Amino acid sequence: MTAVDGANPSKLDPFDLAAQLGAWSEGRGPLYRQLAAALADLLADGAIRSGTTLPPERRLADRLSVSRGTVVNAYGQLEQQGWIRRVQGRGTIVTGPARAQVDGSVAPPDGVGHRLFMPSLHSIDLLVAVPAALPEALDICEQTLIPRTPDICDNAEPAGIDPLRHRIAEWYRASGLPTNPEQIVVTSGAQQAIALAVEAVIQPGDVVLVESFTWPGLLDIVRANGGRVHAVPMDDHGVIVEEFATMVERLRPRMVALNPHNHNPTGSRLPASRRDAVADLCARYGVAVIEDRVASLLNFDHQVPPPLAAGRPEAAHVTIDSLNKLTWPGLRLGWIRTDTPTVAKLRAAKALNDLYSSIPSQLMALRIMEKLDELTDARRTMMVERSNTLVEAVARRLPDWEFRRPQGGVVLWVGLPGGRAAAFARIARSHGVSVATSAEFAAHSDPDDHIRLPFTQSPEVLAIAVERLARAWEAFRAEGSSIFAQPAPSII
Ligand SMILES: Cc1ncc(COP(=O)(O)O)c(C=O)c1O
Repeated sequence: MTAVDGANPSKLDPFDLAAQLGAWSEGRGPLYRQLAAALADLLADGAIRSGTTLPPERRLADRLSVSRGTVVNAYGQLEQQGWIRRVQGRGTIVTGPARAQVDGSVAPPDGVGHRLFMPSLHSIDLLVAVPAALPEALDICEQTLIPRTPDICDNAEPAGIDPLRHRIAEWYRASGLPTNPEQIVVTSGAQQAIALAVEAVIQPGDVVLVESFTWPGLLDIVRANGGRVHAVPMDDHGVIVEEFATMVERLRPRMVALNPHNHNPTGSRLPASRRDAVADLCARYGVAVIEDRVASLLNFDHQVPPPLAAGRPEAAHVTIDSLNKLTWPGLRLGWIRTDTPTVAKLRAAKALNDLYSSIPSQLMALRIMEKLDELTDARRTMMVERSNTLVEAVARRLPDWEFRRPQGGVVLWVGLPGGRAAAFARIARSHGVSVATSAEFAAHSDPDDHIRLPFTQSPEVLAIAVERLARAWEAFRAEGSSIFAQPAPSII
């Protein structure tokens, strides 16, 4: 609901706006940027609607106890991003909830991904679902020797150093997917792999099918390249094949991008029968497939699903893997496995993007690959313990929250029994926990009624986080009993 001035229903009162902004200034960076980001959040989730007049700069500055310059700069940034317009004699007007996409969906001007990297300074960060470096991986990195030979040390090949490409190809062959080193492009992680693949395959206007909730780094890249995002409905096990088939037939997409194993954010695992059905349909209709496998090794039952490309040598598959979450996020090392014509495009895109990936990282990755099974076991053991801690604490302290026990990966997807998740996230933030909500991951309008809880922090921190969430939930229910009673409205 937009808080409005009593005299003029489209004018936002500075007192009400300050209350809606909550603890907006506890993050990092200049105050005006924090204010702009907090306002953009309110605009993105519809709390402030199009046509509303924002308070005059001086009045808002007085209310927030900041300089007028802070508000002027914050408004300036929002204007540049297309959220607001300053009209002589009328004031500062909200021009939309967001910029419309080619496909008619809307997203905030900076994309949605950046919100995951804005925890409040004084809160436990449950926005980012990335575990800290695995000590065993750091040991290996520390012992990695740099060979003083120009073919390695000074190797500027955009697709990566030969020994690593050979090792990765061998790893795929061992998993049943025939691969030669020329089919590999080493990247600085899965995110760069997604960006390069989308850039290489998508032309403006192309339809891209994605899971209805998905990694925002994918959504933002597709939209930045002019792709038209269409969301495939999901159930507890991932995309629904019948819906997928209808959409492929009707929309004739250029590409399908899936994160089918321990999906981020829902934690779902696409069963083998659905994986086959989806891959067969894509092969039949000539649709390129991006398979994002960042958490595929983290199944708690130790089963590693084969890549969708296995058994389909002719199909256009871009298989993406990464060592970052698995071993050390700071390594920034991942790769793409695809056909050689696509490799040529990706290699050119990689060269333009950052020339080539860091040689020390590539050498460390080579050593890590030798011990990958042991490291995967260590990371899996860690994630099972943390998942148990989180699940038990949530079940005990927040018994009305709904979730399925994770079978792998790094996140718990929680359905809230009422209210809007973004509103709860604001209260959680003021209680010292930053969490992401369904809004951060939704490809299209959806009820904002879930939050994502990563179990990547230590068990001790997770226990404190759940205590704070429980207190925030009490406050949310007490403070917003009228909001709580309403069904969750659509977001973005
Ligand atoms: C589904 C998904 N894809 C890609 C990425 C980016 O991974 P990387 O750190 O390897 O770039 C993430 C990171 O959290 C992710 O969750």
